Amino acid sequence: MASTPSTTLATPAYCNWNLEDASFPEQFAWGASTSAYQIEGGWDADGKGPSIWDTFAHQAGERVFENQTGDVTCSSYTLWEEDLKCIKQLGLTHYRFSLSWSRLLPDGTTGFVNQKGVDYYNTVIDSLLANKVTPMVTLYHFDLPQCLEDRGGWRSGATVEAFDAYAHFCFRTFGDRVKLWLTINEPYVIAELGYETGIMAPGIKEPGTGAYLSAHNMIKAHAAAWHTYDEVFRKQQGGLVSIALNSDWAEPFHPNSPADQEAAKRHIGFCLDWFATPIFMNGDYPVVMKSKISAMSKKQGYPSSRLPEFTPEEKMTIKGTADFFALNYYTTRKIKHQDYACGQPSSTGDKEAEQVTDPSWPVATGSSWLAVVPWGLRHLLKYIKDTYNHPIIYITENGFSQSDPAPLDDSRRWEYFRLTLQEILKAIYIDDVRVAGYFVWSLLDNFEWTCGYSSRFGLFHVDFENAALPRVPYTSAIEYTKVIANNRLMNLHG
Ligand code: BGC
Repeated sequence: MASTPSTTLATPAYCNWNLEDASFPEQFAWGASTSAYQIEGGWDADGKGPSIWDTFAHQAGERVFENQTGDVTCSSYTLWEEDLKCIKQLGLTHYRFSLSWSRLLPDGTTGFVNQKGVDYYNTVIDSLLANKVTPMVTLYHFDLPQCLEDRGGWRSGATVEAFDAYAHFCFRTFGDRVKLWLTINEPYVIAELGYETGIMAPGIKEPGTGAYLSAHNMIKAHAAAWHTYDEVFRKQQGGLVSIALNSDWAEPFHPNSPADQEAAKRHIGFCLDWFATPIFMNGDYPVVMKSKISAMSKKQGYPSSRLPEFTPEEKMTIKGTADFFALNYYTTRKIKHQDYACGQPSSTGDKEAEQVTDPSWPVATGSSWLAVVPWGLRHLLKYIKDTYNHPIIYITENGFSQSDPAPLDDSRRWEYFRLTLQEILKAIYIDDVRVAGYFVWSLLDNFEWTCGYSSRFGLFHVDFENAALPRVPYTSAIEYTKVIANNRLMNLHG
């Protein structure tokens, strides 16, 4: 059996701490992450229902690079054994993947269960455990069943109930073996890009309201699922449940400018704290969000704030609904204060913060937004420790993309990983942050949302032109294998 998670974590004491000698803590989780739509393919196989990403990618109009889709992608639905070989080759202790809600429940409700979908995930989970790999399962990673979107999606309270029923079904079906659960992946991204700017599925453009309303319902859905686990399953199954939150680190553009310092705080406030404050602290939104959005709404003539309010009962229900902290970190921004002349409502306008990328920072070749700033992760980890009561933290995603065609020798990219792992060691040993694990995004090159296959985040290269979709390790995979085997950064010793 894979190891059972715990809510305690011992930090090894090092008297003469030295980065070159430091091991990662015992039982450190070494993982890689994927998500269903990005790797599975089989978009309509064996009774799977459509998700919003199937719909979005099938609608022509350059929403996705070269109108590519996830119809086939890595075909992990049929090639799971190949993925397992990659996982074993790396020696991962943990593998994070997501369940496709509409593969299990084609119309999003428990009215009809697709047994073929259940069988598929049983195979994945059982073979991971047979190989001593602990599964970490995300219930929802961007791919809402289309039937639920047709009834309002995350803008509707009905989706809160549907999610809770789906979570109940998953805990009941897989929870005898799965002990690490994530409810929703990156609600910030879903809210901002799915319901505010419409860049991602379901493509809703409701600036100033869409993100806040959808986030409001996602927070309630997460809390409902956590309570379902806590009340119905925890005693028997003994697992842990959290939510995967993404955040940049933010530095003031002018370090000595109080306005930029406040703006940098707001950048994190309107991203990480938006979800972490209610869930980890007090059941309510950060004060800065409430005051900014309320003031801006008033100036724009709204009768009340565009940010919805939780009732006192809802606050009690939301507060304290995470058993560990799950962080996805990719980049750092420099932030300038920017007065917003209260024109069109938008969540970015409410924030009054402009983000700038420092031109001296390297940028990942496959993602123009991804400035490579390993030290930003250490700051963010320390911030989470100080703000959220010293939680156990899993870094559930971190990675660097290459553009296509991507060389198998990606030594430069490995250097980014190595520097990042050094920053994690500093966070653990110098800052006393309780980091319990690190998951690379991603196991495989895959469908990178609106960038399609042009942006490659994999530890394994996938040849999408070849019908067999062969997986071949990059240099980073070979180096990561050594780190996992030794539980430390061997290459520091040459
Ligand atoms: C998402 C992944 C995505 C990765 C790289 C994260 O926001 O969870 O699905 O592929 O970033 O863009």
